[in-house]
Amino acid sequence: MALKPARILAIESSCDETACAILENGRALLSSVVASQMEIHARYGGVFPEVASRQHVLSITSVVEQALTQAHLTLKDIDAIAVTQGPGLAGSLVVGMNMAKGLALGSGLPLIGVNHLEGHLYSAWVYNSDERAPAEPQFPLMVLLVSGGHSELNLMTDHLTYQRLGSTLDDAAGEAFDKVARMLELGYPGGPAVQKSAEEGDPNRFKFPRAWLDGTWDFSFSGLKTSVLYEVRELQKKSGSLPVADLAASFQKAVIDVLYKKTMDAAREFGAKEILIAGGVSANRPLRQIFKAQTEFPVHIPPLSLCTDNAAMIASAGYYRFALGHISQLDMDVLPTWPLS
Ligand code: KG4
Ligand code: ZN
Repeated sequence: MALKPARILAIESSCDETACAILENGRALLSSVVASQMEIHARYGGVFPEVASRQHVLSITSVVEQALTQAHLTLKDIDAIAVTQGPGLAGSLVVGMNMAKGLALGSGLPLIGVNHLEGHLYSAWVYNSDERAPAEPQFPLMVLLVSGGHSELNLMTDHLTYQRLGSTLDDAAGEAFDKVARMLELGYPGGPAVQKSAEEGDPNRFKFPRAWLDGTWDFSFSGLKTSVLYEVRELQKKSGSLPVADLAASFQKAVIDVLYKKTMDAAREFGAKEILIAGGVSANRPLRQIFKAQTEFPVHIPPLSLCTDNAAMIASAGYYRFALGHISQLDMDVLPTWPLS
């Protein structure tokens, strides 16, 4: 079925990135601007919510203007406004939502609320408009969504249609990376720091536990995190110094082993045609490598610039909601649940 053409302007401000993007027909990216607050929050070792909201207020207008300028467009060329509705930090979300509401009211354009997690998985549909379109993901798709706040396996049987198979019982994969980075004094954000340190380390030096949770598609990373903590304390007592790279590599391998095996098992069990991996942790190089190298399934992983938070992914999810007529009346007081249907 051919979907109606549309140009979407999307805004994302759920955490510590103020972002705006313009996307054509759900896939072709005309512009994407991301104002990162990473350096500011690094001082605190994590995202400071009050500071994040204030930064969004400072950046949002110029981020939207830049996205329009880079695409050589004005609001008259846009068909609908999409915005991240949740989940996220309330004080941060509200800044993007109010900007989107203002734009929609001022221009008479429809307003589409997008779930941030749905956005992450639609990042796999996006490509730069000056490049050739890569193959579109095919349903049924096994989706591994791994971000700072979520780790989930979803079976996607069609656009906007998900069956959640399992999720984390405690820490999300990204959260575990961030906490272990703090233990190893590697700084913030933790994921890239652990990955970098792990490049110099031996992933087999420490045998950290893998929570397989057999018989379920759920994840658990808090036991692994605690195990790293005990090892760190033990080593500090014994010698005072830490083999940081070996600890980082062994921890990272434990996370990847579980994410890889459970996703592969689920893809086979549910008869998926292809695999899609999205969310901040999908930027992890060894995770990308194992999925590209060791699977019989075509695997879709967004380019690095679209793994972490951005507005292009919100524009893509917003487009499919718009084109398929799944637009909820955006109620600013209600955050949508996940999965959405
Ligand atoms: O999707 P995202 O940008 O924000 C949320 O929606 O949560 O994900 C951020 C998470 C952080 O926990 C960060 O440490 C992790 O993604 N992350 C990584 C890497 N890059 C970002 N984890 C492992 N390896 C990476 N290279
Ligand atoms: Zn995110």
